[in-house]
Parts: sequence; structure tokens; C-alpha cells
Amino acid sequence: MRIEVLHGVNLDQLGRREAAHYGTLTLAELEVQIAAWGRDLDLTTGFFQSNHEGAFVEHLHGLRGNADGLILNPGAWTHYAYAIHDALEIAAMPAVEVHLSDVDGREDWRQLSVIRPLCFATVSGKGAAGYRQGLELLKKELAG
Ligand code: DQA
Repeated sequence: MRIEVLHGVNLDQLGRREAAHYGTLTLAELEVQIAAWGRDLDLTTGFFQSNHEGAFVEHLHGLRGNADGLILNPGAWTHYAYAIHDALEIAAMPAVEVHLSDVDGREDWRQLSVIRPLCFATVSGKGAAGYRQGLELLKKELAG
């Protein structure tokens, strides 16, 4: 089973962002950790990050037939980018929304997620460990 892990805007800056919300790992370090958790669970992982919404949307378009499930952390796009909602609908595969920080316990504007209705689960506020939980949830979901 192949899981694609997508990171959106500003997630390439992990390691320089507020550690209290996002931890201290860089994105490269986080991806190494997620890949290792994937191997533990017998899942193949692929990774993508962009600060360009169109590139993110086009990557989602290309995933049909190339992935079995998705983990998405679109960063701030989560809260307003309906084009990503629609691209996720087109991708049509099981998806988990993951946020490093506790988006529901922060500013009001972070409490709306436009992708949440298309994700079968949301994990937030658990730091890097949230991605492991996301992989476990996808494995269970894909096993049917
Ligand atoms: C984030 C939460 C978003 O509100 C924020 O804009 C991010 C990261 C998280 O992982 O906690 O960039 O998605």
C-alpha cells in the first residue's frame, strides 16, 4: 500500500517555525521519521511539499492510480483553500488530515478546515507522532 504525504504552504520552514506549536524537526527530518514508521507498518510512503497552491492541486490530480491513501497537512490553506478541497474530491481516495499543532485550541480562524469533510479522520496537536497515528488509521481503513 502506497501512502502519499502532502505538506502545504510554509511547512518547508519547519525547524525555523515556533517550536511550541510545530516542534523542532525540519521537514526533511520529519519525512525520514514518517518513512520509517511507514516501513514498520508495511506501507510505502511518498512525499510532496509546495508553497504554490496550483502545484499542490496539480499534484493531487496526478495521484489517482498512483497512491492508495493520503495524509494531508496543507498548512494555512487548510482554513480557506476550497480549490484543495475540490482537488481532494477528484483524487477520490481515503485521506487523513494531520496538523502538528492543536488547530482547534488556537485562533478562531484555524478552527475551520475546508478539507475535513473529505477526510475520514483528523489528528491534530500530537506533533510528529500524529503522522504515525495517521498511517495507522490509513492502514486500518485500507484493510477494509
Ligand atoms: C498547521 C496548522 C495551520 O493552522 C498552520 O497555518 C500551519 C501548520 C499544523 O501543522 O499545525 O502552517 O497545519
